[in-house]
Amino acid sequence: MTDDRDWWRTAVIYQVYPRSFADGNGDGTGDLAGITARLDHVADLGADAIWLSPFYPSPQADGGYDVADYRDVDPVYGTLADADALLDRAHGLGLRVIVDLVPNHCSDQHALFRRALAAPPGSPERAVFHFRDGRGPGGDEPPNDWESMFQGPAWTRVTEADGRPGQWYLHLFAPEQPDWNWDDPRVHEEFRTTLRFWLDRGVDGFRVDVCDAIVKAPGLPDWPHAAHGVVEPVDGVMPPMWDQEGIHDVFREWRRILDEYDGQRILCAEAWLPPERVARIVRPDEMHQAFNFAYLSLPWDADAIRATIDVSLAANGAVGAPTTWVLSNHDVMRHASRFGYDGPVELEAGVGVDDPQPDRALGLRRARAATLVMLGLPGSAYLYQGEELGLPEATTLPDAVRQDPVWERSGHRIRGRDGCRVPLPWAADEPSFGFGTPDGTATWLPQPDDSGAFAVDREVADPGSTLSTYRAVLRTRRDLDVAAGPLRWDGDRTGADVLAFSSGAVTVVANLGPAPVAVPDGTVLVASVPDAVVDGMLQVDAAVWIGRG
Ligand code: NOJ
Repeated sequence: MTDDRDWWRTAVIYQVYPRSFADGNGDGTGDLAGITARLDHVADLGADAIWLSPFYPSPQADGGYDVADYRDVDPVYGTLADADALLDRAHGLGLRVIVDLVPNHCSDQHALFRRALAAPPGSPERAVFHFRDGRGPGGDEPPNDWESMFQGPAWTRVTEADGRPGQWYLHLFAPEQPDWNWDDPRVHEEFRTTLRFWLDRGVDGFRVDVCDAIVKAPGLPDWPHAAHGVVEPVDGVMPPMWDQEGIHDVFREWRRILDEYDGQRILCAEAWLPPERVARIVRPDEMHQAFNFAYLSLPWDADAIRATIDVSLAANGAVGAPTTWVLSNHDVMRHASRFGYDGPVELEAGVGVDDPQPDRALGLRRARAATLVMLGLPGSAYLYQGEELGLPEATTLPDAVRQDPVWERSGHRIRGRDGCRVPLPWAADEPSFGFGTPDGTATWLPQPDDSGAFAVDREVADPGSTLSTYRAVLRTRRDLDVAAGPLRWDGDRTGADVLAFSSGAVTVVANLGPAPVAVPDGTVLVASVPDAVVDGMLQVDAAVWIGRG
């Protein structure tokens, strides 16, 4: 790879969810060989990098975010040699590769957790996790009132070697995901080794899972407030499991390691915090960038979008970091469906067959306009596999096939995130829509019957397709260096119904209101939909990029 200075400041990074991208061996589950074989799609799209969600050995209690071995590949995804081949191919295509680092928790099958379970209370083996005695008579109650992000208590009780109920261990997510104790130096050592392992193999960076939870407040005090979505302080105090000051020392430790390597290797924070808190993570000696979940959480509302753009740019600008933009990922309802609802949407709750269904045409139209807005903003942008096809959320999955742990743990109240994780359609007329091999077994989640309409081979051939639009906008973004900014609002046009701003050499205009609006002078470089402009008027729920001069 070339050593482009600060490539990450304006990079478009395409998220690959390995289970669902492409299945090279026909077993119904995506794999590394499948990804390698399809990487030209990402290069042709015009992305700069891919981010791979976890492909490490894992019992898959949480889609691989329960890691049993940080330094190997799960056999279902292939081998380390396959990972090397993927890196080679990606780099050959000019794509950088970011892998997922999961430092808050591991799998209950990780060797160190198995060792901790076999060791007695108070042992050094237990000290690398959060083991505590329970409260109440017989220690029958969890040690504090924290709740798991996947419902129920954040503590599970173990059975000790003598067969009696014993201590409890902390898991902010599923019971199969015990939290590491970052007060123990051996945890630091373990992760330093993991970082070097992948850096030595040539990865270009890490997306760091729930990085804001790794350090807990001393004493693990009770916290009676619920925390979902973007975590806000209560009366100025952050919850004891989120955004504690100690996280920053860990990030600095990792940054020093990355900086030893050539080629600008990067860290990207996953932290559902308000922009001003996120900005503290991307100070110059910490992480390079962080997901902008405040932006992802927005409804289709010009005032709200404009305000969050300003707040994000100001917060990151104050620490010299680029702002990132994102609309979809493997945890939230795809934006092509989200924008097809009238009111606010619960991002991670999922949709069942009997729930109100989104207006698909409206959702896709708005999603394409939203994408033109996002990719016109200065900074770096994350895309989630399938959004370039306009893929909707799978909202009619049978409940029997659901795999998200939240479905069981919520007593079948919350359906969860399977709907955005369905295997991709590559070829309209092939079995499994080209996801697997022609004689392959059924895909791990069923693909909706109409997936062929979104298949890559069909959209490539259609100049008005979502895919063609993504390609055009990404090409223009790169050619005109749009992401270098700076952003300037067009104060005359921007209002409750319209977003209008310039970035680099383009002007972006989006119409979020109920009536067409006039298009500014200049050449339309890209339009969100073929009928975006009619008689010089920008139609409702459409956006354009206009070249100046
Ligand atoms: C965030 C990941 O994106 C999500 O998929 C996972 O369930 C949690 N972190 C826990 O690792």
